[in-house]
Amino acid sequence: MDAYIVTFQEHGDERGMLVALEYEKECPFPIKRVYYMYDTRENVRRGYHAHRNLRQMLICVNGSCKIHLDDGEETREIILDTPQKGLYLGKGIWREMYDFTPHAVLISLASELYDESDYIRNYQQFIEERKRDL
Ligand code: TYD
Repeated sequence: MDAYIVTFQEHGDERGMLVALEYEKECPFPIKRVYYMYDTRENVRRGYHAHRNLRQMLICVNGSCKIHLDDGEETREIILDTPQKGLYLGKGIWREMYDFTPHAVLISLASELYDESDYIRNYQQFIEERKRDL
């Protein structure tokens, strides 16, 4: 599965912590868009899509959440619970985000601008497109 956890370098001192993310250092693609999810209601599961081309880095900068991943061959459950770690997701990975803590903030760095035609929102169609890719 083209997904992995990146541990960021923390620049901490007596004032507190700071993490910086740069293209080709912590992030393997040029960042075209940033968005974030917050105030996610209890017991909500969101996502339910894959991207045809977009790659992204997800960082839970406050609180924690879990992410279910599926590339059509294997599934994984990831916990993001520290601002020091990011989850890189390549293209063609179905994702569902769940178990958000009350003040969780999940930031997404994306390789592309928002484009609805890049989304696969139907799981059966996702499986069919993955089979065709292989
Ligand atoms: P949606 O794709 O449903 O979020 P998720 O699948 O991650 O739960 O997005 C929610 C709404 O926000 C939807 O109306 C599309 C809009 N949106 C944008 O306008 N720009 C963006 O960059 C994103 C990610 C979503």
